[in-house]
Amino acid sequence: MDGGLTERVDPARSFHAELRVPGDKSIAHRALMLAAIAQGESRIDDVPDGADVQATARCLAELGVTIHPHPALPLRGSEIHVEGRGMQAWKSPTQDLQCANSGTTMRLLTGLLAGSALRATLVGDASLQRRPMDRVVRPLRRMGARIIAIDGQAPLHIEGTTLTGVEHQLARPSAQVKSALLLAGLHASGETTVIEPSPTRDHTERLLRVMGAALRVDGNRITVRRAQRLAPLVFSVPGDFSSAAFLLGAAALRPGWSATVHGVGLNPSRTRFLHILRAMGANVAVAPYPDQLFEPAGMVTVEGARLRAVDLDGGDVAQVIDEVPLLLAMATQAEGATRVTGAGELRVKESDRLAAMADGLRRLGAQVEEEADGMTVAGPTPLRAATVDAHGDHRIAMALAVAALTAAGPVQVSGAASVAVSYPGFFEALRAATG
Ligand code: S3P
Repeated sequence: MDGGLTERVDPARSFHAELRVPGDKSIAHRALMLAAIAQGESRIDDVPDGADVQATARCLAELGVTIHPHPALPLRGSEIHVEGRGMQAWKSPTQDLQCANSGTTMRLLTGLLAGSALRATLVGDASLQRRPMDRVVRPLRRMGARIIAIDGQAPLHIEGTTLTGVEHQLARPSAQVKSALLLAGLHASGETTVIEPSPTRDHTERLLRVMGAALRVDGNRITVRRAQRLAPLVFSVPGDFSSAAFLLGAAALRPGWSATVHGVGLNPSRTRFLHILRAMGANVAVAPYPDQLFEPAGMVTVEGARLRAVDLDGGDVAQVIDEVPLLLAMATQAEGATRVTGAGELRVKESDRLAAMADGLRRLGAQVEEEADGMTVAGPTPLRAATVDAHGDHRIAMALAVAALTAAGPVQVSGAASVAVSYPGFFEALRAATG
């Protein structure tokens, strides 16, 4: 996205946060889409107000789905009502579906629309239109989908058609690809199976199960059958673990610093970051709430420490895919060399996140070696005042802002408006915690 705006981050002498974070983006995208193909009215509370989820809501409204309040209005903290009448009630949009910066919107909607009776064109911003879409288009074509993409990138022209379930062995772990194929499987004949090389977030599977879809999970094999009828949803979206991670990670940087996040999602496929924090030496306390439905949530407290370096391989990376930039930032303050490998996927996120982090951390004076599929960061290194560039990417803006807390002077983060994608109030929360 056009990252705009420069935010100044001052060095922190102390850091104490106690807060809630916006609802989980991954869960909210899926909940809105599935509610839109269910039969009946869904009520989804704590839908996040970030631009990505708003893009999904707007696309669904374009497809004729009735959503209250209308997605043209700000979503902040609101309860969203979605009137599901099955995908048969959707209509071909009269204009392109604008997915903005959101890969999840584009990939999951492609899966849904592939088996519809509609025609639609999905477009995105400059960043999204550079990202690889062949990873969903190719396997969907194996099911019979009619999708035109040039060089495997958006715009994606979809002509909905009859799909046949097949078995997909994924080449790389990706929750977006897995989900797109499972959503297509809801409208395919026979069974659609996805085999993951290593586990990724399972929000789609949990929602499908609670809504009554015929879903089987057997180790790394997930199978879905055509859904005649999905039940509507009534639930609150837990806080986004990946947003909370930035405050928790900041607190970990120094002994005496702390952060507590209430109401945060604790789905085990998202929380590997907490294990890594512990391995780095931070104190982590987790208090799950007792009355959990299908997505666990609770309170997490992190207390800082003198951090130690860690090694992260491809299996770890798949579990902390959105926290890798933050971990690289934290590694500048850890004793020893932190080595991240098997992280080539970071190059095709909202920005090339390995290049963007290497650039930003070097400007701050960190010792960084960028590799084709990872990075080595030596620490602890005192950081300096500098201007750094978020490269239009929300997670880079937040990761560099966290590193900046330990710098000797103020750091200007340019392109900081990109945080609106997932955590519009991030800089306010960071400042409120900083003493
Ligand atoms: C997401 C999956 C991940 C993640 C993204 C959200 C999802 O992407 O990086 O922020 O909601 O399924 P990949 O599937 O491309 O790894």
